[in-house]
Amino acid sequence: MYTARYKSHHDASRSLKKKFTLQIDKEDYLRTKLAQPTDESLVLYLHVPFCNKVCSFCPFHRPDKLRRRTYHEYLLEQIDLIKDLPYMRSTVNAINFGGGTPTALTPLQMDIVLSKLHESFNISKDAEISLESSATELSDEMLDVLVKNKVNRLSIGVQTFQDETRQLFGRRGSGEHAAARIKRALDYGITNTNIDLIYHYPGQTENMLMKDIEVIRSLGIAGLSFYPLMIHDKTPLAAKITDADRMDLADMEREYYLHDIIVNELAKDGFDFLELNKLVRNNLDNYEYMSLRHSVGSCVAIGEGAGGNIGEYYYKHSFEDSLVSDSVPICSKGRIVDPLYRVMDAFIYDLQKTKVDLAEYSNKLSINLENLLNPLIVKLEENAMLTRNGSIIKLTTKGRFWGNNIIDDLVRLILV
Ligand SMILES: C[S@@+](CC[C@H](N)C(=O)[O-])C[C@H]1O[C@@H](n2cnc3c(N)ncnc32)[C@H](O)[C@@H]1O
Ligand code: SF4
Repeated sequence: MYTARYKSHHDASRSLKKKFTLQIDKEDYLRTKLAQPTDESLVLYLHVPFCNKVCSFCPFHRPDKLRRRTYHEYLLEQIDLIKDLPYMRSTVNAINFGGGTPTALTPLQMDIVLSKLHESFNISKDAEISLESSATELSDEMLDVLVKNKVNRLSIGVQTFQDETRQLFGRRGSGEHAAARIKRALDYGITNTNIDLIYHYPGQTENMLMKDIEVIRSLGIAGLSFYPLMIHDKTPLAAKITDADRMDLADMEREYYLHDIIVNELAKDGFDFLELNKLVRNNLDNYEYMSLRHSVGSCVAIGEGAGGNIGEYYYKHSFEDSLVSDSVPICSKGRIVDPLYRVMDAFIYDLQKTKVDLAEYSNKLSINLENLLNPLIVKLEENAMLTRNGSIIKLTTKGRFWGNNIIDDLVRLILV
């Protein structure tokens, strides 16, 4: 049914925001919103847009104008700008640091930023405080700072434990060292530790994949995000690989075969899907931050390149753009969307979590989705990608593999 696999949800969902944009005065909307605390969820996202070493496969944008050594001061300034707004007195339910590599900050800088967050905001006692890191940056000194500041979830970019491939990927340190740092994080009590793995790369044999799986098994982590290698133009890896490699990587039967090995092998250890590319062991991680971002509420964006929303105002923060006004110290490059956008966003996230109740969304969108989507659903059932139980549709393992294509098709039908 499909040949080219979308690795993230594609054009249809990307164009959603544009389609649902409302022409409402941003300043009025935000001033009213920020003038009082909210009962809705509030999460913070902090972005650190650089790394200590750039990986050969990563297209990640690093603004040259950043003063890296004093970047933490920029974060502190941003926190100072917003912390006294009445809205920011609301309970903060989750905090996430992403990048880049947030732990490219020094332990001292990280301590200063985390302490500032605790001083400035009303962070719930059981808030998920999550951070992306590479294994190399997780020194004991860094772990001390994280634990002291109540960081309770980690997402560690490992990519592979195979030394040869680590070299190809430009990752620092050996696989053994990476495994030791992950164990150390768990020993420090951060039980909700997750790792990122890349599979289906040039030269990967089943044996190499099985070796990665064996290490994963031995660690006792909470979850695993697994991505097939994507070759992005202008990366060092794109210049290095051959046409034959590209042909191999385009072989979706092979990719499905490797995907299946990961899913089936780790199922023996209690791993099951949380999202399309994410397995979780014994429900140890429910990625609260991500769930909250796709529900009602706000995600306040802090740092260069951070994306967020305040109610229906969606924006990306950049030091190059002006603020809305002195009394609304939020980046002005954003748009206000119709509340229906958020319903569609939640629908897509449910599908990412592999299950959706069509009756629920028919109600919220005032469309009969079961009728509208029926021809496609029947086709997906015939192709063993989906099962249906009443109004609930659920992706099969094959459907999860093609999940982003399926989401794209379903969203396209709803939007016409
Ligand atoms: C934005 S990175 C942040 C993680 C962290 N900086 C690290 O690598 O240690 C998130 C994850 O996306 C995945 N990723 C990035 N580029 C990729 C590519 N070209 N192909 C497949 N996965 C990729 C990697 O697994 C990476 O850990
Ligand atoms: S994969 Fe992670 S560490 Fe590597 S360059 Fe990209 S963001 Fe940085």
